[in-house]
Amino acid sequence: MSSFSLSSLLLLLLLLLPFLALSSEPGLNDDVLGLIVFKADLQDPSSKLLAWNEDDEAPCRWPGVLCDPKTSLVSELSLSGFSLSGKIGVRGLLRLRSLRKLSLSRNNFSGPLSPEILRLESLRTLDLSENSLSGSIPDGFFSQCRSLRTLSLANNDFSGEIPANVGSCSTLAAMNLSSNQLSGALPSGLWDLNALRMLDLSDNLFSGEVPAGVHRMFNLRSISLRGNRLSGILPEDIGACLLLKSLDLGRNSFSGELPVSMQRLSMCQYLSLSSNSFAIEVPHWLGELRRLQFLDLSDNKFSGEVPDSISELTALKELKLSGNNFTGSLTESMAACKSLSDVDFSRNSFTGGIPSWLFQSTLQRVLISENKLSDSLRIPKMNHSTITVLDLSGNAFSGVIPDEISSIQSLQSLNLSHNAFSGHIHANIGDLRSLELIDFSHNLLNGSIPSEIGKLISLKSLNLSQNNLTGSLPPTLANSMNLQTIDISHNKFSGTLPKQLSDLPHLHSFNISHNLFSGPVPTGHFFDTIPASSLSDNPNLCGSAVHRACPAVLPKPIVLNPNSSSPNNSSHKASPEFLGHKKTILSISTLIAIGAAAVIAIGVIGITVLNLRVRSMAPHSAAALALFDDNVSRSETTEANSGKLVMFSGEPEFSAGAHAVLNKDCELGRGGFGTVYKTTLKDGRPVAIKKLTVSSMVKSQDEFEKVIKKLAKIRHPNLVALEGYYWTSSLQLLIYEFLSGGSLYKHLHENSTSNTLSWRERFNIILGVARSLAHLHQLNIIHYNLKSSNVLIDGTGVPKVGDYGLAKLLPMLDRYVISSKIQSALGYMAPEFACRTVKITEKCDVYAFGVLILEIMTGRRPVEYMEDDVVVLCDVMREAMEEGKADEFVDVKLQGCVPAEEMVPVIKLGLICTSQVPSNRPEMSEVVSILELVSCSQGSSICAEIS
Ligand SMILES: *[C@@H]1O[C@H](CO)[C@@H](O)[C@H](O)[C@H]1NC(C)=O
Ligand SMILES: *[C@@H]1O[C@H](CO)[C@@H](O)[C@H](O)[C@H]1NC(C)=O
Ligand SMILES: *[C@@H]1O[C@H](CO)[C@@H](O)[C@H](O)[C@H]1NC(C)=O
Ligand SMILES: *[C@@H]1O[C@H](CO)[C@@H](O)[C@H](O)[C@H]1NC(C)=O
Ligand SMILES: *[C@@H]1O[C@H](CO)[C@@H](O)[C@H](O)[C@H]1NC(C)=O
Repeated sequence: MSSFSLSSLLLLLLLLLPFLALSSEPGLNDDVLGLIVFKADLQDPSSKLLAWNEDDEAPCRWPGVLCDPKTSLVSELSLSGFSLSGKIGVRGLLRLRSLRKLSLSRNNFSGPLSPEILRLESLRTLDLSENSLSGSIPDGFFSQCRSLRTLSLANNDFSGEIPANVGSCSTLAAMNLSSNQLSGALPSGLWDLNALRMLDLSDNLFSGEVPAGVHRMFNLRSISLRGNRLSGILPEDIGACLLLKSLDLGRNSFSGELPVSMQRLSMCQYLSLSSNSFAIEVPHWLGELRRLQFLDLSDNKFSGEVPDSISELTALKELKLSGNNFTGSLTESMAACKSLSDVDFSRNSFTGGIPSWLFQSTLQRVLISENKLSDSLRIPKMNHSTITVLDLSGNAFSGVIPDEISSIQSLQSLNLSHNAFSGHIHANIGDLRSLELIDFSHNLLNGSIPSEIGKLISLKSLNLSQNNLTGSLPPTLANSMNLQTIDISHNKFSGTLPKQLSDLPHLHSFNISHNLFSGPVPTGHFFDTIPASSLSDNPNLCGSAVHRACPAVLPKPIVLNPNSSSPNNSSHKASPEFLGHKKTILSISTLIAIGAAAVIAIGVIGITVLNLRVRSMAPHSAAALALFDDNVSRSETTEANSGKLVMFSGEPEFSAGAHAVLNKDCELGRGGFGTVYKTTLKDGRPVAIKKLTVSSMVKSQDEFEKVIKKLAKIRHPNLVALEGYYWTSSLQLLIYEFLSGGSLYKHLHENSTSNTLSWRERFNIILGVARSLAHLHQLNIIHYNLKSSNVLIDGTGVPKVGDYGLAKLLPMLDRYVISSKIQSALGYMAPEFACRTVKITEKCDVYAFGVLILEIMTGRRPVEYMEDDVVVLCDVMREAMEEGKADEFVDVKLQGCVPAEEMVPVIKLGLICTSQVPSNRPEMSEVVSILELVSCSQGSSICAEIS
């Protein structure tokens, strides 16, 4: 309301002003008054013009206002981006007699354009771009433009034609009318603007031919007619605009040939003729335009070969020839264009191979898709690559993807799709750390996806669809946390889907249709809404996403069939010499049902066990037992359901009859590396079988066997002995000796066990574990996973450590994998796991051992959760020791039975072992010596039992 009354008051003032003006200082008052009236006409929702106040006689300090320092009169009004709207108040502006520049761009002014505005005699620059002005440009506008030099009406809603008298504004040097709805033919009067240096008429609706006479515009530096409906041939005299630096005629309907006069445009740096209908061949004289930096001939009807003269354009940075019908090969002579950074040759009919200069220059984006290039792809090893985008899709390349591609370290997008590439995807693809997009779809690739793919941490999109790829999906893929889309449809992938995939936070498309995947579809996150079409045609997938229940327990057992072992029954898995002699057929009809092991959804597997000597196996005499499928015909045993069973002991009693059942009832426990079952061999001897859940992470069979054989050679009274293993690509079992006494964890923390461990027994356990670790470290094996549930007690109370060395089976021994695999071991994990700069050594076992000591001494878990507190055992004990109250924390079941001269050194040892800094922790061999010393010190109650 107040603004209304203010403006009407001012209006009144304004009307009276001619009569009052003489009495006051005319200039100053005029400016203040003009600005206030101008302000009164508009809306200022962001209050940017709050300081514009009629009581302030010094408008030169108002925001957006600039004065001539000599006259102190307002010379510039620059209100660009002030969020103003409403009408442009010309009445107020006309008071600003000295105004030279008016910029109201990037606001939301609306309404028509008033020709009155050009009555401002001093106005040189008028910029009304990027507003919502509308209506036509009034006829009288250009006729009164006096000394206007720069006019921009760009990015408004002006419509109608350009007035025919546009040429009368002869002072105009720059005119920008782009991005409006202007239409009709270009008036020939336009070319009368012979002072014009810049003309931008782009993105309007102009039509018809370009009128003749453009040669009169001899001052023109830049002209854009881009994005209109202009047609016909270009005016012959365009080459007369000798100073032209930038010529943009893109997105029109121009046709015919390029006028020969264009070869005179030797100043031209930017030439775009894209998206027209220019035809015939590119003239040879193009090479005359020596200063060209940007040349865009894309999407026309050019044909024939690209003239060799293009190699004379040595300043060229961007060359776009896509979407024509160019033929011939990509000329080698372009090696001379040393400044090129972007080339786009796509959608033409180029033939031949890749020219070598593509990989030698400073090129960044190389697009050659949809041509007829062929032969194998040859890439030189690159020292300093700059290429970020390489698109060779839709050609006829064949042969393998060259190894050298991994030397293009700068690569972000690699598209080799729709070619005839064959062979494997090489592991060194993992070296391309910047890759965001891989598209190898529609080729003839075979083999499996290398687990190194997980090193591509920037990867967003992976497309390997329509190939002949096999194997399982490496779980390492889930390390590429930026993945958004994965398409591996139409291949022959098999195995189960890594659960970790559901951890990918940005995944929104995962197409695995038309493969041979089996087992459960991961759940959580993206996978809860995955469309069925992304999973279709994988007959053995299960889970709610495919409306098929996953079998909880596989009912059908694996039958070890005694009658299927004649030599000609053998598969390729067992070599003939393997079977040639001593065909002692073991009449085992053992049933092994892999309970909860939906991993192998293949159902029934018949296994024949052959007891054969293997020369290569272990130092001691060993027996290999090959397992064959009973249901599949002998000669066609597939890899998925045949396997290899190896027992290191080769003891004859193993071949006696028994049932061995792996199912849920026999489950002993679960750990970071797998589930453990108890089974009984034919001779009644129990064994523990660990089914590796990290199976899909396991490396090749060779690597697996190498690690396992190394572990099998380790024999120590305090280590659980590895007795054998079973291998198929989808399932790995480790066979361990069975220990009847249960785990240390049970003894310490589960009250159900009747007899609690005495001090003597506990000390024996500490010493035994120490000896086993010292032995492992001597063999350069890090346990990585020591915890009380991994310490087993045999019938006579001897501790045996299990689960050692299995981290070696993981493809990447990095701390992320290890800490996620053994996260159950909360409290035992040495601090350096969280610290990327510290190397993980065997000292991490020493730490875990220290925690174990404290656990044994106190009977408390390494970390306990209280109501609103987390209690970390080693911190509590460190404090207690400092305060001399450690004895209060000794397990109540022991209290009174432990002499202080034994208790204190053992607890101290535990604290030293849990030092934060790895180098402060003792070696395990030193630990053993210390413990032996404690046990044999004078008067020790435990001396007799040791060693
Ligand atoms: C611009 O003004 C019009 C009315 O004149 C209004 O509808 C529109 O929302 C405004 N736009 C912005 C971005 O303020
Ligand atoms: C014309 O104005 C538009 C909008 O302000 C701008 O984007 C464009 O660059 C201008 N044209 C030239 C040639 O300066
Ligand atoms: C491209 O050129 C070739 C040979 O000059 C011709 O056979 C073919 O028809 C042309 N294709 C198109 C789409 O014009
Ligand atoms: C890469 O460097 C090697 C020697 O360091 C040199 O022989 C070779 O020519 C270089 N290659 C390229 C493409 O520059
Ligand atoms: C796919 O691989 C199989 C063998 O793994 C081979 O028999 C078949 O010919 C391959 N198919 C193609 C299209 O290369």
